[in-house]
This record gives sequence, structure tokens and C-alpha cells, in this order.
Amino acid sequence: MGAPGSRPNHRPNHQPSGQSEDRGRQLSRRQYVRFAFYRVDPLWRRLEAAEQSQQKQELADVIRTFNRQMLLRPYSLMGTRSDAELLLWQIAENPLPFRELATAIASTRMGGYLNMVYSYFSQTKRSIYEIRSNSDDTHEERLVIDPSEAKYLFVYPFIKTRDWYQLSLHARQGIMDEHIEVGRKYPSVRLNTTYSFGLDDYEFIVAFETDEPSDFLDLVQELRETESSRYTLQDTPLFTSINMRLEEALDALGGPPITQTVLSDEIHEAWTEVCPLDEFAPGETKVVFLEGKMVGLFNVEGTIYAINNRCTHARGPLTDGAVNAHECSVVCPWHYGKFDLRTGAALDGVVRKPVETYQVEIRDGVIYVGTPVAEKIEG
Ligand code: FES
Repeated sequence: MGAPGSRPNHRPNHQPSGQSEDRGRQLSRRQYVRFAFYRVDPLWRRLEAAEQSQQKQELADVIRTFNRQMLLRPYSLMGTRSDAELLLWQIAENPLPFRELATAIASTRMGGYLNMVYSYFSQTKRSIYEIRSNSDDTHEERLVIDPSEAKYLFVYPFIKTRDWYQLSLHARQGIMDEHIEVGRKYPSVRLNTTYSFGLDDYEFIVAFETDEPSDFLDLVQELRETESSRYTLQDTPLFTSINMRLEEALDALGGPPITQTVLSDEIHEAWTEVCPLDEFAPGETKVVFLEGKMVGLFNVEGTIYAINNRCTHARGPLTDGAVNAHECSVVCPWHYGKFDLRTGAALDGVVRKPVETYQVEIRDGVIYVGTPVAEKIEG
């Protein structure tokens, strides 16, 4: 699978009208999501230390090559569950990179010792319920998963009873209102709801992010007392996962650490190969992933700019916005906040905070995107 396709940036700066156009837009924004849980065969832990270290590094290198195709977040479950030790949370525009990654991991030396003990496959979708929010969240945002830097992730697959679906939409909305009200009491817990109907065994896979596990415990306990809980058929297993960098999550599995090798570099710079320069024409935009962040690239009259693709207002996809080449700016498609593509500065509209800008280099005719500019300066 190659790099994500480029597209000309000549979208009008307004919301398209018409139902089918709207549905097309929604479908194109929906993302596929996979939660792959691994456990290491105990035999791996008896290998020579040098072999373990080499295998971990080889695995990390292979996984990292998928940054161009998907947003990939590693988590450790060492110490939180007995039957799963490593989670790779994967988010992509189509399901094929999941298969490619699974095969690539299985083909490594360490892959021979990794058992995939749980796997959940799902997709984002707009909720059918009215969710009145105090925040800037929009329905559109629910179509795009953008993991935070929260320390913990709770993966919660569940199935509702069939009786639930026989209730009228009005009745379900009333029950959901109570459910949502409880959720609002725990603002530190961030929710990522995905849908699995027909794709996999469960109906919903919800990923909760928080820095406070006790808030999540209290939330789940309180939700048990709500009416909606009567309509839950199954909501186990449940996974408490710890957010880590890839090397750290592999080091948590055992063996000599490889993390230090990376961190001891004077400046830790990460670079992602994008594509040959001649395949990215002026006026086009592109999305790549760098260290778990979605980066938007813009070719403005032959100069390539890279910024965080998530608007700082409510995470609108900036590569879908309207570019003004003369001004070197982009207008967010969701609420029309404007950013300078050179500096990331918020120029106009509802936006207040700048977006991160990333280094761009052309080496031998190939575009590379690297560490955020501010980090480079501080480094
Ligand atoms: S998401 Fe609101 S202006 Fe971008």
C-alpha cells in the first residue's frame, strides 16, 4: 500500500448542500479502527538478551514504517491484565493497512513469539442520538479519532440487548440523556465511540482516555445505576492500557531496554518519508502520520508546508480546508478558523491557538516530514 493519495485543494469554502452529497462527505470522513492486543510467548523471555534486543528493534522499525498509512498508538498492559501485554491502537482511512501491518509484524522474528489474544475492528460514525454538549465538540468530530496524550486508555467493547433496539428512538433518547448526564460529571474522561455492527463480534468499541483511572472507575460504577445499564448484554473483557512510546511499550515486555538507545541521541528526531516530490503537485494536500500525530502537507506554489492536521479549535481536518496561496494560509472547513501555513499562527475566526508546524526536507527528490519546529529549536 502506498502513501495516502494526494488531492487537489480546490474545495469551496462552505458546507455542501444536498443529502447525498452530505452522506458522501460523512462516509469519506469515517475512519476504520482496530485494537490489536498481543501477548508474548514465555519462550521469548528465555532468549539471549542480545537477541531480544535485536528483535525488539527490528519490530519497532517495521511498525514505524506504517506511520504513513495509519495513526498508530502503542500501549502496555503489563501489570494491568494477565492475558494481554501490548496494544496497538490503529486508525486508518480504510481497513487494508491493518492487514498489511498484521502480516508485517507476523513476518518479524519477534512476531513468531507474539500471540494476538484479542482483536476488535470497528468504524467511526455519527451518533443517532442528540448529544447536547457544553464543549466545542461537533458531530463531525465523532467521525475522526484523534487520540489525546492521556496516560491511560480503557478499551470497552460491548453489546446491547435486542430489546434495546425495539424501543422507540424517542424512548432510547430519554435513556441516553440520563447516561450522557452522568458522563458530564467526569470531564477528565474522554470518549471515543466506534461502531462494530456486522464488522466484528461486538456492537460498540468505546475507548476512554484519561489521566485519572479512579475517575473512570467512578464513572463506570455510576453508569451501572442508570436505566441504560439494564440494556447491556455484554461488556467484558475490559482493558486498562498505559500510553507509551513504541520502544517503551516493547521494553515493558522484558529483555534489555532499547529505549535508551533512542533517547540518548542528543536530539531525538523522527522523520517520515512522504513521497517523491514530483508526485505531489502544487495545489495538492496530503496526510501522513508522524509519531502518532496526523500531519497535513500542503504544496503551495511549489513550496511544501507541514502543520498538525487537527485544527486547534475542535480538531477539524485542515487539509480539507481552503488554501489561499497568495496569503499562504488555510481556512478550517468546520468553523472557518484561519491559520498561517508558514508559522502555524492563528490568523482569523474562532481559532486562538496556533497549530504545530513540522520540518520538511527534500532529499534526493523525496519529501520527508520531521519533528515539530518548536521541538527542534528547544532540542
Ligand atoms: S474546528 Fe472549529 S475552526 Fe477548526
